[in-house]
Amino acid sequence: MPKKVTKAIFPVAGMGTRFLPATKSVPKEIMTLVDRPLVQYAIDEARAAGIKEFIFVTSRGKSALEDYFDHNPFLEQELRKKGKDELLKTLKSTNMESGAIAYIRQHRALGLGHAVWCARRLIANEPFAVILPDDVIAAEKPCLQQMVEAYAETGGNMVAAMEVPHDKASAYGVLDVDEDMGSVVSVSGMVEKPKAEEAPSNLAVIGRYILSPSILRNLDKIKSGAGGEIQLTDAIAADIGSDNPVYGYRFRGERFDCGSKAGFLQATVAFALARDDLRDDLAEFLSTISNASKAAQ
Ligand code: G1P
Repeated sequence: MPKKVTKAIFPVAGMGTRFLPATKSVPKEIMTLVDRPLVQYAIDEARAAGIKEFIFVTSRGKSALEDYFDHNPFLEQELRKKGKDELLKTLKSTNMESGAIAYIRQHRALGLGHAVWCARRLIANEPFAVILPDDVIAAEKPCLQQMVEAYAETGGNMVAAMEVPHDKASAYGVLDVDEDMGSVVSVSGMVEKPKAEEAPSNLAVIGRYILSPSILRNLDKIKSGAGGEIQLTDAIAADIGSDNPVYGYRFRGERFDCGSKAGFLQATVAFALARDDLRDDLAEFLSTISNASKAAQ
């Protein structure tokens, strides 16, 4: 049985230029979906999957993230005094255990593979998860938990996967499928951001990974790939055919690309509609504006 996965890397060093000017002073990962920062969704998913150590790969200008994960005794005391128990509970649920979070700086923006490699000394020789907080996944059972369960059977390396339209495949890492076993596929090749006509399939990698420590050794040697960056996809592909095979996992759930404005807005609406306190008002508003726009056509 493969070793338990207890560490996760969260690459959060990106500049978030697609969200300028907001990201001039606010890290993208702190931007809120309804009332929770993007990064909180990633942390909650990791916790549900049994992760105990959280490693953030950050960059200049991301210190708001460290503050966010700190306890805020003053605010807690104020809420307690005012008897705001529900809010106090919400606030405390975001507190992280002392020593559970580590921050590593990626000094140069050399790509996702490089960001993961920056955390190598904290991972040492065990399997680890990688969560890209931009990919928010709404699911009954959180995506990483689904993967941890599947990984307990397969071992090796596992990447979350999802079918995308053929003309969108070039925005992703794309899998070449060897054997399709339903939710799990074994992988015979992986290409980062292929040209549409060169994509081996339309099964795309989504930002959840469970990786063998061999990937960190591969990253020692990997040269820059697509877009001139050191790609995680290339380091995983280098394990194909080794003792650590690569699997794709078709997760159950809905993925939102919160790295794009449209995806962020869609996630905001979907998460708000899932909330008892917001659903009715928002649904009514959405039907009013949709009727108004139909009438205007
Ligand atoms: C990254 C990965 C890519 C993956 C994608 C999923 O790309 O490099 O393989 O398909 O995340 O969101 P990025 O979107 O950071 O360019």
